Amino acid sequence: MIVETKSVEETMSLGRKIGATLKAGDVVTLSGDLGSGKTTLTKGIAQALGITQTITSPTFTLIQIHELKKKTQAGQFAHIDTYRTKSAEECIGAGITDILFNEKTICVVEWPNKIKKLLTKETINIKLNTKNNKHEINVPDHILKFPIRKKIPIAYWLFLIIMIGFYLALFKAVQ
Ligand SMILES: Nc1ncnc2c1ncn2[C@@H]1O[C@H](COP(=O)(O)OP(=O)(O)OP(=O)(O)O)[C@@H](O)[C@H]1O
Ligand SMILES: [Mg+2]
Repeated sequence: MIVETKSVEETMSLGRKIGATLKAGDVVTLSGDLGSGKTTLTKGIAQALGITQTITSPTFTLIQIHELKKKTQAGQFAHIDTYRTKSAEECIGAGITDILFNEKTICVVEWPNKIKKLLTKETINIKLNTKNNKHEINVPDHILKFPIRKKIPIAYWLFLIIMIGFYLALFKAVQ
C-alpha cells in the first residue's frame, strides 16, 4: 500500500501506526534515497514503542539501542543505519547479527542493501520515494490492513482451551 505523506508529522504518524503492529523479533527495513524520510518514520515507530529519548540518525554509530520501558514483549529497540559501512562483513564484525537475530529486539534498518544477505524473508520491507517532490511510502499491505500482529501469550491460549473444554463438559452434562 502506497501512502503519500504531506508533512513530517504525517510521516511520523504513519510510523506510529507501523510501530503499533510490531512485535519482538521483527526486523523492518527502510529503503530510500538520502532525505527520503527514513529517520522521520523511525521516530514515529519509536514513539509507538514508548521511547521518549530523541531518535537521531545513527549514521556514525551503525547501531543505536533503546531499552523499552513500555509493557511490550520486546526488550529493546535497535535503530541501525549501514550508510557509512563498507560491507556486511564489517557489520558482522560490529556485532550486527546478535541484534538482528535477537528475538527480544525490534530492529529498524536504514540502508538495508549492504546487509541484504543477513536478512530473512520475514523482514518487513518498507520503501520510501521522493519523486516529484512527493513523499511516498510503500508499506506491505498486511502491516496496515491487519494491525493486530502481536504475539498472543501462551496463557491466553491455555485459558481459551480450558474455557472451551469447560463449556463442552457443561454442554454434555446438561444433555
Ligand atoms: N512528508 C515528509 N516526510 C518526511 N520528511 C519530510 C517530508 N517532507 C519533507 N521532509 C524533510 O525531509 C527530510 C527527511 O529527513 P530524514 O532524516 O527523515 O531522511 P532519511 O531518509 O533518514 O535521510 P538519510 O538518508 O540521510 O538517513 C527532513 O529534512 C524533513 O524535514
Ligand atoms: Mg536517516
